[in-house]
Amino acid sequence: MEKKVIQAYEKAKSAMNNAYTPYSGFNVGAALVTAEGERIYTGCNVENASYGATICAERNALLSAVAAEGVSVQQRESRGKFSFLVVVAETEDPTPPCALCLQVLSEFCNADFPVYLANERGILKKVTFAELLPFPFNGTQLQKH
Ligand code: THU
Repeated sequence: MEKKVIQAYEKAKSAMNNAYTPYSGFNVGAALVTAEGERIYTGCNVENASYGATICAERNALLSAVAAEGVSVQQRESRGKFSFLVVVAETEDPTPPCALCLQVLSEFCNADFPVYLANERGILKKVTFAELLPFPFNGTQLQKH
């Protein structure tokens, strides 16, 4: 496995330990790596008594990255801000990002964007963004209407 992937996996795992999950007890960590691999942004799920206000680990990582760095016009046009995502959950089988997170990710990721799904023991599966969300509503439709 590529060194950067291992590094991101370790960071996602430590973010998972910060998950705030008094309602589900289901802890998730995420690490999003920028295009040149120079920065890794992490997130954990943060639950809320109103349930629906819960933020998933993936969106937490993504929004932290955007808040810290912004997104340039070129990165916006190419959907090239990030190079890959790692998601870690305490499950035997791979846990994919939920549909809300996929929708938010679709703003920033291309079809071939790699997503590594992992648990505490290691990386279980590598999928592309298109395998998770094959036909996204992502702004291309808005440009053409
Ligand atoms: N959750 C994530 O953070 N990411 C996922 O990929 C799936 C679900 C969280 C939301 C909630 O805190 C808990 O897992 C149970 O749904």
